[in-house]
Amino acid sequence: MSNTYRIGVIPGDGTGPEVIAEGLKVLKAASELKGFSYELVSYDLGGERYLKTGETLPDSVLEELRDMDVIYLGAIGHPKVKPGILEQEILLKLRFSLDQYINLRPVKLYPGVETPIKNKGPEEIDFVVVRENTEGLYVGGGGFLKKGTPDEIAIQESINTRKGVERCIDFAFKFCQRRNKDKKLTLCGKTNVLTYAFDLWERTFNQLAGQYPEIKTDYAHVDATCMWMVKNPEWFDVIVTDNMFGDIITDLGAMIQGGMGIAAGGNINPEGTSMFEPIGGSAPKYTGKNVVNPMAAISACQMMLDYLEEEDAANLIETAVMDVIAKEMKSLSAGKMGHGTNEIGDLVLKYMSARENK
Ligand code: IPM
Ligand code: MN
Repeated sequence: MSNTYRIGVIPGDGTGPEVIAEGLKVLKAASELKGFSYELVSYDLGGERYLKTGETLPDSVLEELRDMDVIYLGAIGHPKVKPGILEQEILLKLRFSLDQYINLRPVKLYPGVETPIKNKGPEEIDFVVVRENTEGLYVGGGGFLKKGTPDEIAIQESINTRKGVERCIDFAFKFCQRRNKDKKLTLCGKTNVLTYAFDLWERTFNQLAGQYPEIKTDYAHVDATCMWMVKNPEWFDVIVTDNMFGDIITDLGAMIQGGMGIAAGGNINPEGTSMFEPIGGSAPKYTGKNVVNPMAAISACQMMLDYLEEEDAANLIETAVMDVIAKEMKSLSAGKMGHGTNEIGDLVLKYMSARENK
C-alpha cells in the first residue's frame, strides 16, 4: 500500500452521511496523531441520485472505485425506492464486481455496553464471523416459471464453487491464526439438510484443517449456532459460514454486542479493493436529527485502518471508542445516547488525544 491512501467515500442514504462525517473526523484526527496521509474521493451514490437520474452504480464510477485503496461506505437504502434496487445495483454490485469475497464481522461486547444476554459480559462475547460474500443465494441464480399463475414456480439457487468456498475457509483459518485468541474455527452450516452445498463446505473445511494443525476445528448447524450464540457465546472464536447464514447470524451477533449502533463490518478482497461499513442500514426515520449512533461507522473506520496496517491508529480509535462508551454514553441506541451524533464524534477525538498525550 502507498503511504497516501486513496479512500473512496460513499456516504449514501439516510443517516449514512451523518455517521460518515463523524468517522471522517476520527480518521483525520488519527492521521494527525499517527502520521499517515490520505486523500478522499467522495461519490454521491444512493437513493437520491437514483431518483434524480435513474443511475445506481455507473461503470465509470465502479472503475474509479476499483482504483481506490479502500472504500468507506455509510448506508444504502431509501424509503422512496423499491426495496432491492439499490441493494442489488449498488451494494451487492460493489461486493461482487470488486470480488470482496469476505464479509468480516466482529461481534465484540465492549465494557459498559448492555447486552440482552443475561450473565454474559465482554469476557464471553468476543468472536468474529467470516461470511462468504460473493456466492450462495446472493448470486441471483434461479427464476420464475408461469409467474403470476396458480402454477407458478420460483427457484432460488445457492451457488457454491470449490474455489469460492476454499478461499473463504482459507481466509478464516489464517484470520483465526493471526487473531491468536482461542485458535478455534467453527464451520456453521446445515449438513443435515443442504446435503450438496454444505457437503462441499465440510469437505473443503476438513481438507484445509490439515494445513493448520494448531487451529482447533468445530462444526455447528446454523440453527444450533443461533442457539449457542445466545446460550454460550464464549464457545466461539471465529465462525466461518456461507453468505445467507452469515447475513442472518451477524444480525443476531450485532444484537448481542449492543445493537446496530456499534456493529461494523468489512467487505474484503485481500488482493483488491476492500470496503468498510456500519452494518445497520440507512435508518430513514432518524435522518437529519443528529440522534443516530456513529460508533458503528467509527468502528468501520477503525477496521479500515487495521486493514491498511495502520494498527496503532486503529488501536487508538478502538480504545477511545471504549472510553467514550464506558464513561460518556447512556445507551448505544439512537436518541438515548445522552449526546448528539456529532458530540459522540467529538468525544472520541477528545479521548484519542487524551490517550495519545499520556
Ligand atoms: C448486510 C445487508 C445486505 C445483505 C442487504 C442490504 C443486501 O443486510 O450487509 O448484511 O444482505 O448482505
Ligand atoms: Mn444483513
